[in-house]
Amino acid sequence: MTERDRQQHAHLSALTQAYAEVLGAQGFDGVLLYSGRPARHFGDDQHASFTAYGHFVHWTGQAQLAHSWLLIRPEEPPTLYLHAPQDFWHLPAELPEEPWVASLRVERCKTTEPPSLPPGRFAVLGDLDSGMARALGAEANPPGLVAALDERRVCKSDYEVSCLREANRRALAGHLAAREAFEAGGAELDIQLAYLAAARQRESELPYPNIVGLNAHAGVLHYQHYDTAPPPVRHSLLLDGGRRFRGYCADITRTWAGPAAAPEFAPLIEGVTALQQRLIAGLAPGVSYVGLHARMHEELAALLVSHGLVAASPEAVLASGLTRAFCPHGLGHLLGVQVHDVAGRVSADGEPLPPPAEHPALRLTRELEAGMVVTMEPGLYVIPMLLEAHRHRTEVNWGRVERLADHGGIRIEDNVLVTAEGPDNLTPQEA
Ligand code: GLY
Ligand code: MN
Ligand code: MN
Repeated sequence: MTERDRQQHAHLSALTQAYAEVLGAQGFDGVLLYSGRPARHFGDDQHASFTAYGHFVHWTGQAQLAHSWLLIRPEEPPTLYLHAPQDFWHLPAELPEEPWVASLRVERCKTTEPPSLPPGRFAVLGDLDSGMARALGAEANPPGLVAALDERRVCKSDYEVSCLREANRRALAGHLAAREAFEAGGAELDIQLAYLAAARQRESELPYPNIVGLNAHAGVLHYQHYDTAPPPVRHSLLLDGGRRFRGYCADITRTWAGPAAAPEFAPLIEGVTALQQRLIAGLAPGVSYVGLHARMHEELAALLVSHGLVAASPEAVLASGLTRAFCPHGLGHLLGVQVHDVAGRVSADGEPLPPPAEHPALRLTRELEAGMVVTMEPGLYVIPMLLEAHRHRTEVNWGRVERLADHGGIRIEDNVLVTAEGPDNLTPQEA
């Protein structure tokens, strides 16, 4: 048994205990977790790529296993109803050689029908079609139960941290290969293919579509295309690339200057990287993530001034709202079996914690706790649509800003475990 296998065993014991407590407190005899089903394209016989429901993945790590169900009852081993039809078109699902498989009953199911439930009060969670809950005689997605189970995903077990670390290690191999493809003059598609080859994961299994932005595309926050031709000149590459390991997600961004970069661009990348490292150093239990996000804006204001993009005091830059035009997204989010993991905007007792009105994109508004894994992803972009509202500001060095527009922007993103002893950066720091 490997160390990770031992950790998985402990993870499942703790999960069993947690579910027993939550189900007992809410008066349920059990809960049935539905992995889900891929959407079929309208009028077609082809399906979209698929990701299983987070609570199903929390137990099994199987992020691609569709049409399957997991029944959890206190005092009983979990039962996995594994969709494994007799089918000569497809290879039936196989389970991995991991300890969780031995700790549950497995029933192989030939149809996509839900299993029948024993007598009692049951909930069924997942992306159900209208008839499923009725057919099961169970309560569909009761909000109180979903919230309580979401909360149990917020702080990670040693096993989950180990998986997140491994996902990061494998994602970073992709990033290094992608950087080489960029330096060799590759197109966005070449860079993506180099990433996938080195990270050794097919595109449909990634936690999110990789963002591979050359030049101005780096300033489109969720840029979604892969140009097949290299651009005539290369100013920059922003690569936001992930990977799953046993269901757990890496979410890493790097930005590199190209041979045609303006001289001020590489120092700006260094500035954002140093800023990110300072913010990471501030991660500790009891710290407000909203406060860290506010600190990111203070630091961005100072960076805009020190790099000659704005000629004013950092306080005045902050007050003008300019930093929000240069960085309209949040500092980061919780990370787990979903890239934007659940329960980032509620307190531990379920009270909503909406983001501040001027920072609507912030996905994490909680106080930090040991065991949380968060992303730290400050950015600085030239987004003409947002800068337009600030055109009248004479303190902005518009010439310099416009020279950077062809570079799109900068984001540096690591995945960090919060501990009482200090931040533990799960993302290997490349040379
Ligand atoms: N890759 C999506 C994000 O950074 O949140
Ligand atoms: Mn990302
Ligand atoms: Mn992220």
